[in-house]
Amino acid sequence: MIYTKPPLSFMGNKKNMLKHIKQVLNTMRADGEIDGESIFIDVFGGSGLVAHNIKQWYPRNQVLWNDYDNYQKRLDHIAQTESLRAWIYEKMRDGEYRNALPKDIKQEILAHIHALETQGEYIDYITLSSYLLFSGNYARDFTELSKATFYNRISATRLTAKGYLDGVERVSLDFIDLLDSYKSYKNKCLILDPPYLQTQVGNYKDHFSLGQFFRLIERVQRPYLFFGSDRSDTIEAVEYLKRYHKELETYTFNSAYLLGGNNTDYIIYPEGRSLFSIA
Ligand SMILES: C[S@@+](CC[C@H](N)C(=O)[O-])C[C@H]1O[C@@H](n2cnc3c(N)ncnc32)[C@H](O)[C@@H]1O
Repeated sequence: MIYTKPPLSFMGNKKNMLKHIKQVLNTMRADGEIDGESIFIDVFGGSGLVAHNIKQWYPRNQVLWNDYDNYQKRLDHIAQTESLRAWIYEKMRDGEYRNALPKDIKQEILAHIHALETQGEYIDYITLSSYLLFSGNYARDFTELSKATFYNRISATRLTAKGYLDGVERVSLDFIDLLDSYKSYKNKCLILDPPYLQTQVGNYKDHFSLGQFFRLIERVQRPYLFFGSDRSDTIEAVEYLKRYHKELETYTFNSAYLLGGNNTDYIIYPEGRSLFSIA
């Protein structure tokens, strides 16, 4: 089974870019930039969605997923999260909740979550936020959740991660350590999807600074796929840094519109033989 979105919600996942990523990799393969021996390194692996898809497209190749946020822990507890989803779904089933949820329903849900947590159950607040909070808002713990306004955004779909990261190798490192350890390894393909500059941390572990962005640019090696967005001035920064870094001298980019928003996301990659037209 190919997952076209992460099994558990993850802000900034590349579900809308998968088609483009596949095309760029096909072009690189046709150009001989990647082959059957290439190691794909998903340096900012997030939900593992890109690593998972690459493993389906290139099953014989080694694929590394850098799980800096410990998404694995959320996957390990997916059964608990599923039973909580089913409980909330039942609760909402017969009501018509178009606006904020009534206070009594919110209190009932909070009491249930609190009881579970007190019993030592793992609570996936990020997934819960996607079910209960306004789109794009995240609570990291019970206190933050109880302060938020609840909406009915519960999903009817059962959660599963069966086979999701089978065959993908997991590491959990700062991107500098990971890139430095593969620096002299020739046959690799870097997937670089850093947190966008000038955007909020959201559900990520840390803020991504300008200094980190520069350290990343210094470490870019061909072949690579680099993700950027209108929101974060990536193109402008890369355009400027091209003067100092030969790997970036020839690059091109393709854009894709994020569903539900008016921002443009880009994939920047070394110029190849046959580039597809801008979306
Ligand atoms: C835009 S997201 C990647 C999303 C991913 N491509 C997906 O489809 O789910 C950027 C990721 O980089 C991680 N990150 C932030 N600082 C990092 C660091 N210093 N080293 C490695 N990863 C980092 C964030 O926590 C987040 O998971």
